[in-house]
Amino acid sequence: MRRPYSIVLDLTERCNLKCVMCYFSGTDRLRFAPYDRSLSERGTMPVEVFEKVAADHFPRAHRVALACAAEPMIHPNFRDILEIAGRYRVPDLWFPTNLLPLVERTAEALVDHGVTTVAASIDGVTRETYEKIRIGARWDRLISRLELLGETKKRRGSKRPTLRIIFTWMKSNRHELRGLPAFAAEHGATELDVRFVTPTTGVDVSPELLDGEDQDELRADLRATAREAVSHGIRLTSFPEFETAADRPRSLVGRARRRVFNLRAGLERWEHWRHLWRERKNGCAYPGQTYVIRPNGAVSPCIFWQGDPIGFYPEDDFGSVQGGDALARIRDGLECGEPVGTCTDCIYRRDAFYRPFHRSPRKLLRPETP
Ligand SMILES: C[S@@+](CC[C@H](N)C(=O)[O-])C[C@H]1O[C@@H](n2cnc3c(N)ncnc32)[C@H](O)[C@@H]1O
Repeated sequence: MRRPYSIVLDLTERCNLKCVMCYFSGTDRLRFAPYDRSLSERGTMPVEVFEKVAADHFPRAHRVALACAAEPMIHPNFRDILEIAGRYRVPDLWFPTNLLPLVERTAEALVDHGVTTVAASIDGVTRETYEKIRIGARWDRLISRLELLGETKKRRGSKRPTLRIIFTWMKSNRHELRGLPAFAAEHGATELDVRFVTPTTGVDVSPELLDGEDQDELRADLRATAREAVSHGIRLTSFPEFETAADRPRSLVGRARRRVFNLRAGLERWEHWRHLWRERKNGCAYPGQTYVIRPNGAVSPCIFWQGDPIGFYPEDDFGSVQGGDALARIRDGLECGEPVGTCTDCIYRRDAFYRPFHRSPRKLLRPETP
């Protein structure tokens, strides 16, 4: 079976931390629409529901993220989840985590069930900054969990899961970005994901935003960090733009050097080109390629979608979601330049380039069911 899809899950509505920039600083439980729907009292996805989701989606997926908004490793059956996920040999099976709940048996399960990447969120490279941002976390615990992961891989003779470090850049850790590549290399990370803190619901992140900082200085820090990471052999899976158009070299040699650097850094990858192509072709690269499934079973076409879900687990299945009217309306809206729901104001939406020639939108072929 081909694997064209990317699946994003949340296994729980909870987190063990209350990071200053995160919605969990203002709530113990993150609810997903429809807000009155829950598949368990604690807000965790039941294992039997996960089993159905996995059987339906994972054989068709090139990438599965076992978490997005909450902390996956606090799911009470996380090891069962890993065992089920491992059956499908998904080429890119990964999840973001604060890593703190990791115990030895879970570390072994990560290796044994073929998790490809663990992305540990670490927003500081010193005890003081880390504990100031990641409220409830302890630096010593983090360091010991990084060691546990590394030792388990060594004992099992496995390079996987690879370690990615996620660093959310903000005022509180403004001056620690430059120390990130050395920290990452010291702890066996081979990938970095750096992103700016962004406004989010339920928490005032304005004291942490870097918008008011000198943008040239920020770009210089990013550039130096990127160069140092690459010199350590670390790839940048996600990284803010650090070049303006004026910074780009014009000479042939300069352009070639830039391209070589971007390829080594992972800043230019085949999947970026594919993403851009889908964006231009369909008006957005996500709907129909990505399925986001929350702990209450609600399915969305992307992580930004706030409207009604396009399906529900365990009631639906892949065919009914993919071929359903709800997804068709969203895709038609994007292709025809008449976006619906969240797509109306979404900053990721583009104009589909073949719109004027597109004569048979799905909504005309498939009238709304009464
Ligand atoms: C919400 S957490 C959920 C997964 C897991 N608990 C973790 O810590 O990675 C996912 C990522 O979002 C980042 N994050 C949280 N609030 C953010 C914000 N306001 N802007 C940008 N990233 C944010 C976190 O630092 C973390 O790397």
